[in-house]
Amino acid sequence: MKISRALEIKDDGSLNQAGTTGRLDDHLYMYHMPYSYTAEQIRKLRTHLFHMQDKPVPRIIMITSALPGEGKSLIASNLAIAIAKGDDQHVLLVECDLRKPSLNNLFKYAPSKGVSEIIQGSAQIEDCLIKTPINKLTILPAGKEAPPNPSELLESKRMSSLIEELSQRYTDRFLIIDTSPIQATVDPKIIADQVEAIVMVTRYRYTKESDFKMALDNLPKDKIVGTVLNALDELPAKKYKYRKYNYHKYY
Ligand SMILES: Nc1ncnc2c1ncn2[C@@H]1O[C@H](COP(=O)(O)OP(=O)(O)OP(=O)(O)O)[C@@H](O)[C@H]1O
Ligand SMILES: [Mg+2]
Repeated sequence: MKISRALEIKDDGSLNQAGTTGRLDDHLYMYHMPYSYTAEQIRKLRTHLFHMQDKPVPRIIMITSALPGEGKSLIASNLAIAIAKGDDQHVLLVECDLRKPSLNNLFKYAPSKGVSEIIQGSAQIEDCLIKTPINKLTILPAGKEAPPNPSELLESKRMSSLIEELSQRYTDRFLIIDTSPIQATVDPKIIADQVEAIVMVTRYRYTKESDFKMALDNLPKDKIVGTVLNALDELPAKKYKYRKYNYHKYY
């Protein structure tokens, strides 16, 4: 079959498009195993975000954590899929970890221009969007190459204009923003000012209470709407557990 630029989704879930190839990563449980325990926990997180007492449904949601490797990108990706699988919701998964992009490994596209280039003025939003085989889920990658000054870029007026433009241009859309770890960079703190809600990720038997508290001290607490305990050490079926307790109850 001739592919040209049109999407061709194969039976095994892989996607062929300019720039997008291969079977999506197995860790995208919401896609490959939507009825697993893990996927159920992600749906719980979605439900919590959609039904918070006394709060409107947040449309710009940032996923962050204290330390590297706690599972931010995985949770952000699975949550984005969960929301996109809802009835009417479109999702733009925005990668704001400009230093160490990883969504291309999960969704299988070549390193691609995105946030960095847009903020630096060398690319337009519409030229950077990556389609996925998941209906209603689009990705805005971090960028082709890590810029020398990520924090300055994220702090720039252009970045706030970008988030504003993305949220206004797509009013029916959720923005799920994947970030770098708080301990390593100031980037999440900068992005936090521009989002409506923050989901924290912690990793079972890895995140220390002091790390978590340090992370909280660097974020606007009123925006933190939940904490995910990512339990890497458990059985595959029980790898995530979503707790909607707030942080002080949980720890
Ligand atoms: N629940 C899980 N089950 C199995 N593997 C996991 C799970 N969560 C994370 N991992 C693995 O741990 C590694 C780190 O996950 P991920 O990239 O999502 O973390 P991160 O917090 O985004 O890291 P970074 O701070 O480097 O951006 C990846 O190899 C991922 O596949
Ligand atoms: Mg990551």
